[in-house]
Amino acid sequence: MSDMHTATRYHLNAPALIQVEHLTRSVTTRTQQTTLLHDLTFDVPAQSLFAINGPSGSGKSTLLNMLAGIDQPTKGRVIFAGYELKAQSENALARWRGHNVGIIFQFFQLIPTLTAFENVLLALELGGGGGLRRKDWRGRARVCLDTVEMGAFTQRLPAELSGGQQQRVAIARALANDPPVLIADEPTGNLDSVTAHSIFQTLTNLTHQKKTVIYVTHNPQFASLASARIDLLDGQIVHADGTTAIITPLKEVHS
Ligand SMILES: Nc1ncnc2c1ncn2[C@@H]1O[C@H](COP(=O)(O)OP(=O)(O)OP(=O)(O)O)[C@@H](O)[C@H]1O
Ligand SMILES: [Mg+2]
Repeated sequence: MSDMHTATRYHLNAPALIQVEHLTRSVTTRTQQTTLLHDLTFDVPAQSLFAINGPSGSGKSTLLNMLAGIDQPTKGRVIFAGYELKAQSENALARWRGHNVGIIFQFFQLIPTLTAFENVLLALELGGGGGLRRKDWRGRARVCLDTVEMGAFTQRLPAELSGGQQQRVAIARALANDPPVLIADEPTGNLDSVTAHSIFQTLTNLTHQKKTVIYVTHNPQFASLASARIDLLDGQIVHADGTTAIITPLKEVHS
């Protein structure tokens, strides 16, 4: 476990959209209790391209699920634009997620029988249209596809698109209900390096349009594209850049 007294705290000036305070996540099996995340404290700056970097098994996906309100901390809290996620019921959290978080998956998860346009429209149906009236949903779907440079491919089925194009449609879908935050677990894990860089360029552009984009990667090259980042090792933050975090010195990380 980290010793908080010897940990380093970095202060920078960017306003925090998400504050994570002393977050611990443990799981109890029949035989033992395992701590997946140890006492994490850090901020996600508003409108950052924020990387959660670390090797396989370091706790990246576990942490991302907590930032999205999909999973709950065992101890500590996540405060999202002043709203504490832990205090809410499952239903309230699901509603909150629909308005605040767009999720992008490694394997795109588009509905194969729907066109690019229909995939985005479905997200509007499921999410209630992000405050828009139903008559404006088709226009909104087009705007989202244009934003990710897929305006010329709206009528294609996923199978008629390249991997990078499918991921662009998936980003458009995540934007549909206009959430302030996009969350992505290894969004380019299934793409070649050139395509991956173009997807990261699109994600960077979204941060210039007031979105905060949080992504998980185990690839240091992709982590270096972030404007702010934390690096995890064995469920602890061992490095941070561009944000405020409590760092556990490497020598204190138990493997
Ligand atoms: N429900 C669970 N019960 C027990 N252990 C779990 C559970 N979920 C995750 N773990 C363990 O917690 C650790 C962190 O898992 P996590 O999936 O967050 O890692 P990750 O950094 O996303 O890895 P990868 O890069 O391989 O996706 C791993 O050792 C994993 O085996
Ligand atoms: Mg993972």
